[in-house]
Amino acid sequence: MRCAIFASGGGSNFQALIDKKTSGRLRADFVLMIGNNSKAKAFDRARENNIPALHIAPSHFDTEELYADKLGAALKEVDTQLIILAGYMKKLPSSIITQYRNRIVNIHPALLPAFGGKGMYGMNVHKAVLEYGAKLSGITVHFVDEEYDQGPVIMQKSVPVLDGDDPQALADRVLAAEHENYWQAIEAIAQGKIRVDGRRVIWTASNV
Ligand code: GRF
Repeated sequence: MRCAIFASGGGSNFQALIDKKTSGRLRADFVLMIGNNSKAKAFDRARENNIPALHIAPSHFDTEELYADKLGAALKEVDTQLIILAGYMKKLPSSIITQYRNRIVNIHPALLPAFGGKGMYGMNVHKAVLEYGAKLSGITVHFVDEEYDQGPVIMQKSVPVLDGDDPQALADRVLAAEHENYWQAIEAIAQGKIRVDGRRVIWTASNV
């Protein structure tokens, strides 16, 4: 399965996916990385692993249409089958979402629909979980639709919130769960084990 990765920051999830591919557990090819921030560490990871990378930012374009055209052409050129968002902080143009319906995945560092939506990213999520007093947080892997964090849920895993947690401690525990699990959802898609029925994502012959 030919995958394009979108990343804005550290790209630790990107790295975890590369590692799973290297170890032979994940049967996916990373054919392109796209980042909106030229300083993102994700670009170093792409370079170190010989993955072609492009710096494309919405601010480079006068209109969303031109931005979408550029993204669409770049994705098409490498014959992208799946788009993987791995800490990508920009909203994708709606034409790209339409074109790649149920072929764009994202990972969110909480159990959606709680603690999701606009503004709920990075440490904001973990602060909100602690302020609310939730006893569980976790990860959600979902398909991307037009609304932030609202597409069909592919996988969720919980992690405990511990009494002594500060946002960083919780973030670390959640990120470890992301690294452990994201690849499994992608591998299931690559193996054709995922079927989408409206909002429901059905795993066929899976072990999750
Ligand atoms: C992760 O917590 C992910 O859930 C969110 O962005 C963060 C990306 O981290 N979408 P990294 O860049 O993969 O280290």
